[in-house]
Amino acid sequence: MESANVSDYISQFKEKIKGKGEESMLLPEKFLICVRCEDGVKREEGQTPIPGEGIPNAEVMLIGESPGAEEMKSGRPFQGKAGENLNRFLASAGLDRSKMYVANTTRCRPYKETVRILKDGTKKITKSNKPPSQHAIRSCATWLDMEIDLVNPKLIVTLGSTPLKRLVPDYSISEVHGTLLTVPIQHAGEKEDSREFTLSEKEYHVFPLYHPAAIIYRRELQEVFEQDLHKLRKTVEELKLNSVLL
Ligand code: URA
Repeated sequence: MESANVSDYISQFKEKIKGKGEESMLLPEKFLICVRCEDGVKREEGQTPIPGEGIPNAEVMLIGESPGAEEMKSGRPFQGKAGENLNRFLASAGLDRSKMYVANTTRCRPYKETVRILKDGTKKITKSNKPPSQHAIRSCATWLDMEIDLVNPKLIVTLGSTPLKRLVPDYSISEVHGTLLTVPIQHAGEKEDSREFTLSEKEYHVFPLYHPAAIIYRRELQEVFEQDLHKLRKTVEELKLNSVLL
C-alpha cells in the first residue's frame, strides 16, 4: 500500500467515526491498514479493521467474535441488530455498555461468497458471515492483547466460544458459561505480529457468556443466558465494579 493511501485510509476512518468514539482508539494508526490475514485482504474498498471502543480504562471489557457487515460499514464493534441485542441484554441486568470497553477477537469480517446465476443470466454474489479461521484469530491476537494491556480491565467478559478459546483454551463454553474464572490468559508473543501464544503470569478475572446472537437463534439457551446475566451482575457487585452499573 502506498503511503499516500495510508493517510487517506486513516483520515477516512476518523471522519467515519467522528464523535462516536474516535477519541478512544487505543491502537496505533497502522492498525487501520492491517492485512495480516485473509479477512483483512478481503476488506471492501474504504473499509478498515474495527478497533475496540469505549472507556480507555474501563473496569469491564467485553470481547466478541468478529465484526459483521454493519460493523464494517460503521467502523465500530457491535452495531445494528447485534449491538441492539447486546445493549438490551446488558441493560436487563442493570449493566451499561457505554461504561465498558468493547472489542472483538478478530477485526475484519470473515465471510464467504455465494454466486448465483439469475434467470436473466446475470451473476449475483451474496456474502454471508462465517466464523474466523485460526489463522485470523492468531493474526489479530497482538491487537487484542494490546487493548487488554492498555485498558487493564478488572473483569473480561467473553461473548461466545471464540474469545473464550482465544484467551483460555482449556475451557469449553458449555462447561464454564456464567462462572467467574480467575486464570492466566493466552498472550501472543513479543513480536509485533507474533502468532505464538504463551500464558500470562498475571491472573485475570474472566466471565464467559454465550454469544448474544446464539441466544436469538437457539431459544433453548435463553433461560440459561438470563441466569448467566444475573450471575454476571452479582459478580460485578462482588468485585465492586460500580462504574458499569446503570
Ligand atoms: N458484531 C460484533 O462486533 N461482534 C460480534 O461478535 C458479533 C457482531
